[in-house]
Amino acid sequence: MKHTTLGTLDVSRLGLGTMGMSAFYSGAGADDAESTRTIRRALELGVTFFDTAEMYGPYINEELLGRALGADRDSVVLATKGGTLRHLDDGSYGYDGRPENLRHALEGSLRRLGTDHVDLYYQHRMDPSTPIEDTVGAMAEFVAEGKIRGYGLSEAAPERIRAAHAIHPITAIQTEYSLWTRDPESELLPLLRELGVGFVPYSPLGRGFLTGAIRSTESLEATDFRRNNPRFESDNLAENLKIVDAVESVAAEAGATPAQVALAWILAQGEGIAPIPGTKRVSRLEENVAADSLVLGDDQLAALSALPAPAGDRYADMSAVNR
Ligand SMILES: NC(=O)c1ccc[n+]([C@@H]2O[C@H](COP(=O)([O-])OP(=O)(O)OC[C@H]3O[C@@H](n4cnc5c(N)ncnc54)[C@H](OP(=O)(O)O)[C@@H]3O)[C@@H](O)[C@H]2O)c1
Repeated sequence: MKHTTLGTLDVSRLGLGTMGMSAFYSGAGADDAESTRTIRRALELGVTFFDTAEMYGPYINEELLGRALGADRDSVVLATKGGTLRHLDDGSYGYDGRPENLRHALEGSLRRLGTDHVDLYYQHRMDPSTPIEDTVGAMAEFVAEGKIRGYGLSEAAPERIRAAHAIHPITAIQTEYSLWTRDPESELLPLLRELGVGFVPYSPLGRGFLTGAIRSTESLEATDFRRNNPRFESDNLAENLKIVDAVESVAAEAGATPAQVALAWILAQGEGIAPIPGTKRVSRLEENVAADSLVLGDDQLAALSALPAPAGDRYADMSAVNR
């Protein structure tokens, strides 16, 4: 597996997102043994970058990942996120970037992950009611205390990234990016290159859609996040399947799978980018990791880059992203 650099961290350029093992998608929590085997197989295949968050479950995904890594924890870059549970109030979901809340969240993450430090600690969503100076001040303290090696922000707007980076250098920004979510290309990616900040694209398979495995939402569980996602609503879904058809046709030409094509296209966007595809199955992990050695031709990359914009927003409520 090839490696890349996020700020000062060396990571396998394909990571593993573990969210779906415990939350949001159909089958979450149904087979922890297979999820554990998936994490163990990722280690064998050279994946050294693992992504979780306190709100996945909440809590149980960090516990699962910590248990599965076991004694191998120190040979990987472990990333988690806080700031979306209000520990100073009733512990409910909600954005809270106050230093005391982040400190409480981090202590819990360390305990559940069974480690004395997190390599990359993100504020999961920006909290406009807390000055960025306060939030980043807390992150800098965690670094000084050895509790985290670097910090990141998820779904932060360019002006907030600039402000945060001026206070303490950011290791990486995590934001949705894939063949059907191209918004980061206009402003975010150039800014990160200018600042030398890493980029971690989440949902790089379009929440599974770009693999061609989801052609209708009928088979998804009632609680599956995608059932309430505008891009999966019937008219939008029908329109968006044209994107999948195009990815499938490049895949057929390249002798690869659509998932591999979607990942190889991201990897072709340059250094300092480490997507974190999610799966809870060993077979799909093996398929996705093989994208590391898939080299698409210039014509194939150009065809993919020219795909139309999708129908529908990527969240039902867009007010909490890019701010
Ligand atoms: N910062 C944030 O706000 C944020 C938001 C969302 C996600 N994330 C992070 O990003 C990671 C990845 O994102 P994601 O899980 O939302 O989306 P994703 O990686 O785009 O897609 C995951 C979905 O695709 C399916 N899948 C994976 N590989 C496949 C393959 N080869 N063929 C067919 N289907 C496949 C998975 O199902 P199975 O599991 O059943 O294989 C799962 O439903 C998460 O685990 C999480 O760590 C962060």
